[in-house]
Amino acid sequence: MFRYRAQPTGLPAEVTIATLADHVGKEVTLQGWLYNKRSSGKLHFLEVRDGTGTVQCVVFKGDVTPELFDKADKLSQETSLRVVGTVKEHGKRAGTYEVQVKDVAVIAAPSREYPISNKEHGTDFLMDNRHLWLRSRRQHAILRIRHAIVKAIRDFFDQNDFTLIDAPIFTPNAVEGTSTLFQTDYHGDPAFLTQSGQLYVEAAAASFGQVYCFGPTFRAEKSKTRRHLAEFWMVEPEVAFMTLDEDMRLAEDMLSFIVERVLTTRGEELKICERDTSFLEKVKGPFPRITYAEAIKILQENGHPEAKVGDDFGADEETVISNKFDRPVIVHRYPKAIKAFYFATDPNAPELALNMDVLAPEGYGEIVGGGQREDDLATLEAAIAHHKLPPAAFEWYLDVRRYGSFPHAGFGLGIERTVAWICGLPHVRETIPFPRMLNRLAP
Ligand code: 4AD
Ligand code: MG
Repeated sequence: MFRYRAQPTGLPAEVTIATLADHVGKEVTLQGWLYNKRSSGKLHFLEVRDGTGTVQCVVFKGDVTPELFDKADKLSQETSLRVVGTVKEHGKRAGTYEVQVKDVAVIAAPSREYPISNKEHGTDFLMDNRHLWLRSRRQHAILRIRHAIVKAIRDFFDQNDFTLIDAPIFTPNAVEGTSTLFQTDYHGDPAFLTQSGQLYVEAAAASFGQVYCFGPTFRAEKSKTRRHLAEFWMVEPEVAFMTLDEDMRLAEDMLSFIVERVLTTRGEELKICERDTSFLEKVKGPFPRITYAEAIKILQENGHPEAKVGDDFGADEETVISNKFDRPVIVHRYPKAIKAFYFATDPNAPELALNMDVLAPEGYGEIVGGGQREDDLATLEAAIAHHKLPPAAFEWYLDVRRYGSFPHAGFGLGIERTVAWICGLPHVRETIPFPRMLNRLAP
C-alpha cells in the first residue's frame, strides 16, 4: 500500500503501528506522538501512538548511548517523534507487539505542558480542549466506530442500488416545524439551515426510485439534553412505491447491518469503550413492532399512569418503552396531531399518521424517525395550511404530487445517537468530532 507521508531518508522503512505484526524481528521506523511514559531503573517505556494504534517502545539502558537514555527520560507527553527499533512480540501479552528502541529523534517538543493528563478532568474542560481530547484513546476509539458506522451505512445503501442524492444546506423552508430553524441571511433574503433533506430526496425518488442523502442537518433546539445537538448528521433513504411496512423493514435491515459490521470490524474499539457487546449481538431482525396506542399502554402500566393518547414521548417515556424489549423496537402510527405535516394518513384511522420511530434499547430511545408520505395533492395542501406553513415555499414540493404522484416512504437515522448507543455512551457530545450544542460553538 502506498503511504501518503514523507518517508524519512536513511532510516529503516517506516511502518504503522497497526501493521507491526508483519514486521516481527525487523528494524523499522515509526512516526507519532508520545502518549505516555514510565520508567523503571534501566528501562524507559515510551507509549507511542500514530493514529493507527499505540505501541510500547522499550528503551533499554544497555542498548543506547547514555545521552539517548537520558533524553528518553525527559520526553514530555505529546512530543512528536521518530522511533527506530526492532519489532518484538510482547513478552506477556500474546498478539501484541513492542519495539526495542535503537534511536529516538524528537520532531517537536511541546512548547507548554500538555493540558490533558491521566488524571480526571471535568467535562467542560475536556470540551474546551476537544481539539486535543481527540487524541485520547477513548475518543479515538469512538470516532473510529463512527467511521465504521458511516461506511456501513453507505455500503448498505450502495449494495441495495440506492443512488446518493446530496440535499442542500441552505433552504427556503422548514421541514420539521418552524420552532427549531436556524435563520441566516442569503444575499438579503432569509434562508434556513436545513433540518432534513427529506423533501429533496422525495423529489429525487421520482427520478431515481431509491435514493438517500447523507449530510449535516441543523436544529435550533433549546434543549440541553444528552441526545440533542444543534448540528448533527443524518442519513435519509427515500423509496418510490414503498409503504410503511417496507419502510420498517428497511430500517430494521439497515440497523442490523450496521451493528453486525461494527461487531466484526471494531471489536478492539468497543473494548476500549467498555461496551457490553452481548446487547449488540441481539440486534437482528425481526424487531418488535408496536403501535403508538400499545406504547401508551406500556407507559401506563410502568410508572406513567398519567400517559394518555395525544402525548409525545420524551427521553423518559422512550426509556420505559424500549426497556420492555431486548432489541430496537419500532413504534408506529402516532396521532397526526403531534407529527410533521407531510405524513400520510392511516386509511383505517384518520387521526393516525403512517409514521414510525425506532427506539434503541438500553434507554437510548429514538434513533430513527420516518414513515409514508402524503401523496395526495389536495390533502397535502390542506396540511401545509393547517400547520400554518408559508405555501409559496412549498410550491416546488407540491409539484412532486402534481406530476405523477406515487406512494413513497423513507426515514432519517441520526448518526450521533446511533454512535452513542452502539458505543454505550451517556451523551452524544463524544460521538461527533466537534460538537455544536446549545452553549457550545467552540472549538
Ligand atoms: O425524527 P426526525 O426529526 O425526522 C426527520 O427529520 C425526517 N424528516 C427524516 C426523514 O423521514 N427523512 O429526525 C430523524 C432522526 C432522529 O430519530 C434522531 O436520531 C436524529 O434524527 N435527531 C437528532 N440527533 C441529534 N440531535 C438532534 N437535535 C436531533 N434531532 C433529530
Ligand atoms: Mg423524530
